[in-house]
Amino acid sequence: MTASRNRTTRVAADERDQLLQLVATQSMPMGIDQIFHGDMVSICDHIPPQTVDLLLLDPPYNLRKTFGSSTFNRRSTEEYREAFSLWLKVALRTLKPDATIYVCAEWRTSAIVQPILEENLAVRNRITWEREKGRGAQTNWKNTSEDIWFCTAGEDYKFYPDRVRIRRPVIAPYRDQTGRPKDWNDHEAGAYRDTAPANLWTDVTIPFWSMPENTEHPTQKPEKLIAKLILASSDTGDVVFDPFLGSGTSAVVAKKLGRRWIGIEIEAEYCALAQKRINQSREGDPIQGYRDGVFWPRNSPNQQQRTANRRRADEEGLLL
Ligand SMILES: C[S@@+](CC[C@H](N)C(=O)[O-])C[C@H]1O[C@@H](n2cnc3c(N)ncnc32)[C@H](O)[C@@H]1O
Repeated sequence: MTASRNRTTRVAADERDQLLQLVATQSMPMGIDQIFHGDMVSICDHIPPQTVDLLLLDPPYNLRKTFGSSTFNRRSTEEYREAFSLWLKVALRTLKPDATIYVCAEWRTSAIVQPILEENLAVRNRITWEREKGRGAQTNWKNTSEDIWFCTAGEDYKFYPDRVRIRRPVIAPYRDQTGRPKDWNDHEAGAYRDTAPANLWTDVTIPFWSMPENTEHPTQKPEKLIAKLILASSDTGDVVFDPFLGSGTSAVVAKKLGRRWIGIEIEAEYCALAQKRINQSREGDPIQGYRDGVFWPRNSPNQQQRTANRRRADEEGLLL
């Protein structure tokens, strides 16, 4: 590993203040495409009702975790329930009637938040995604799954499954009597099928040092994961709101996908980091794992590699 290949985004000491000048505080007028520095409980009150189309809630889970200058300590179930209920209540005030809400959690936190979500929203599904990282343990199963609760404010809501299909190689490419591919596409790079999105996601890569989206935020979400939520549940120009913005992933992805966005983050260090990522991104910029309007399996070769593999297989008479 060479230091020059490390593409982690960091904020240098001499750029921090300049970045923070672009970040708003509670006393400033409410703006779209804006990061707010402060506590979401008070800042949410400044967002006019019926502003938000898509709410992404990724709060501290009920685990001990250090975020910048403060540590979130694991609480009793009752204490976490109280905190989460308040976070949800203030965020829900900002929503449009047809809004969608996604809530991230690990297995223990999931059990606490589910009844609160059921009381307040229409809970439609629970996505489980594989977080392929972390150490194994000698006394328990290694934890590599996380949940995302899919909820809506009402019965009318946006949902576009065709925008989040996964392109998978076809293992047994079957042809009909006329020789045409049956439910798959014949491409010079291989046989593939664009499959319907299910609620179990095993195609997400956790950002690592050679990916430009990587930061030192301890619980950063992958852009690919957030892109699926935004594409499936919002239109171009819609407002995406993330009141626990962290390293800024949801705002960056919203911007790349032509949505508007609002973010709140309590740690100044992360506000600066998120602002830096926002400044570096443009509408239409690539999102790792999403190309040609479809999502690709984890570690799948790019187009060039696939074409080369296919040619080699043809030359060697192999079935690919
Ligand atoms: C789980 S992380 C979110 C990570 C984010 N999704 C990302 O991709 O980087 C939760 C974030 O919420 C912030 N936070 C905690 N309490 C907050 C509050 N009351 N208001 C705003 N932000 C808060 C933490 O500093 C932390 O960065």
